[in-house]
Formats: sequence, structure tokens, C-alpha cells
Amino acid sequence: MFNDTSSLKSHLATRRSGKARDMVTPGPDTDELRAIIELALRTPDHGKLAPWRIITIAPEQRDAFAALLKQAWVAENPGAAGMDLSALDQFAHQAPTLLLLVSTPVAGSKIPLWEQQMSAGAVGMNLLHAAHAHGYVGSWLTGWAAFSPNVGAAFAADTDETPPGREISS
Ligand SMILES: Cc1cc2nc3c(=O)[nH]c(=O)nc-3n(C[C@H](O)[C@H](O)[C@H](O)COP(=O)(O)O)c2cc1C
Repeated sequence: MFNDTSSLKSHLATRRSGKARDMVTPGPDTDELRAIIELALRTPDHGKLAPWRIITIAPEQRDAFAALLKQAWVAENPGAAGMDLSALDQFAHQAPTLLLLVSTPVAGSKIPLWEQQMSAGAVGMNLLHAAHAHGYVGSWLTGWAAFSPNVGAAFAADTDETPPGREISS
């Protein structure tokens, strides 16, 4: 049995990601999503810098997100068309719920950059655990978009520090 949430130990022993493209509605509603994010934020954070941002992409924002990905892809891959772009459309629309996790390290802090980045990554792991604890399944994806300067700029992220989009669903 995967994602057996009957105890913390059994969950840790059976944790598995879902496949974003196979996720179906219903995803978490607004209150559940808030609760999932609150759980995820109980992450070790040296210096309490909260060096991350979690961005929700609402259903009505999926088309705009897809357009952003496609614009960025064409800008970075001149002449791109066809399958490349339909794959980005599929990526932007898959799974009922989409969160972007952005690493936003605090420059000049005495806490080393790597520690801040690991803390942001730990939020990603905790988001998966929290989604599972609420009866959903999650998946953590980066792909090209997570490292695109154009996509990063749209989310006011320093691209060198931009990591994972991820999705959660039932
Ligand atoms: C930071 C990060 C980025 C990832 N990006 C992708 C990705 O772009 N595409 C993909 O197929 N899997 C990606 N994965 C792997 C999946 O999220 C997943 O961990 C993997 O399929 C193994 O499944 P499991 O979590 O059930 O062990 C990524 C994992 C991490 C930690």
C-alpha cells in the first residue's frame, strides 16, 4: 500500500509520488490548500528567513501560465512550435492543483546560501507529505521552466535560485 497515512512511520515507509498527468479532480479546496501549505511551512529554517515563496496558480490562471511558458520557450528556443508548445500547454494544465515553489535566499545573510536553498527544498518535501496527510497525492516537477530566466523573471525570482513547480491532487 502506498501513502499509508495510518501512522507517521507507515507514511514515511510507504511514501510515493503520483504522476501529475494522471491526477484527477477533486483537488483540495481553498481551506484544505491553506492547511496543506501551513503544514508544509513547519520546515527547519536556520535564522527564520523563510527563503522561499509558494505561489498558487488558480484554475482561471492556468491559460495565462501556459501562455507564459510558451512565450518563454519560444524566446529561448527561436523557431519552436508544434509538439514543444503542446507539451507546455499540457504541463500547465495538468492536475487539479498547481503550486510553484520558488527559492528566494536572503542575500547578505550570515546563513549560507546552501542552507537557505536546502530549507526551500525541505518545504517541497513537506508539501508532498502535507498533501498526502490530507488524502491527496503530490508530485514534484522542475523541468525546463524552473530554470528559465523568462519564467523566473515573471515570478520575480532570481533564476539561479529558481526551483520546482509541483502539483497536488487526489
Ligand atoms: C527537485 C525535484 C525535481 C524533480 N523534477 C522532476 C521532473 O521534472 N520530471 C520528473 O519526471 N520527475 C521529477 N522529479 C522526480 C519525481 O518528483 C519523483 O520523485 C520520482 O518520479 C520518484 O517517485 P517517488 O517520489 O515516488 O519516489 C523531481 C524530483 C525532485 C526532488
